[in-house]
Amino acid sequence: MNIHNARFLLSGVKKEHYPVSTMPEVAFAGRSNVGKSSMINKILNRKNFARVSATPGKTATINFYDIDKKLMLVDLPGYGYAAASKGERKALSDIINEYLTERKQLVQLILLVDSRHKPTEDDRRMMDTIKSAGGMAVVIATKTDKLSKRELEENLDRIIETLNLSDGDILLPFSTKTAESAENFWDYIYDYILF
Ligand code: GTP
Ligand code: MG
Repeated sequence: MNIHNARFLLSGVKKEHYPVSTMPEVAFAGRSNVGKSSMINKILNRKNFARVSATPGKTATINFYDIDKKLMLVDLPGYGYAAASKGERKALSDIINEYLTERKQLVQLILLVDSRHKPTEDDRRMMDTIKSAGGMAVVIATKTDKLSKRELEENLDRIIETLNLSDGDILLPFSTKTAESAENFWDYIYDYILF
């Protein structure tokens, strides 16, 4: 990985806030607490760049990170946080949906799912959104350090099945505890996004 300058640009909740930019954008979506912000920190080799919390619902805005003026990484709020009120959940899903429908610079939406759990109905809906936009699906199975090798293999199969992934799609196991995961992610970025 060869990042020279990763910079937090801004946080916003609606399209008027989004940065003016021509860089390709890669956005991270997934349930609250799945590990989106942690993954961004790990791949950027920063400790608390994107705010992380053991309490779900930490990221409530869209956060834009400029990577070397070549690529924008976008940390989205998580969905499906059961303890949030109906109104709060609606507000978050509006923020996410506006970004997904309005943002022309978005070249790849990446779906994060917890490697320990079966993907939820919300995850499947997000996958439908990705598929209906055309192109490949990129799924990250997070927190793999919490599983044995054998459990991980079984769970990856379950993710493939539940999300209906096909040959052209990408499924990357990820853990903040290993350097290898981050390297694999950057290989994907260089092969498919920045080639
Ligand atoms: P929201 O902002 O609420 O949508 O959550 P998020 O998806 O950004 O999750 P966040 O990165 O805040 O991580 C949630 C919790 O999971 C934190 O306690 C992290 O330390 C933990 N976590 C994230 N990734 C890993 C991982 O790879 N391994 C382990 N063991 N814990 C992780
Ligand atoms: Mg977050």
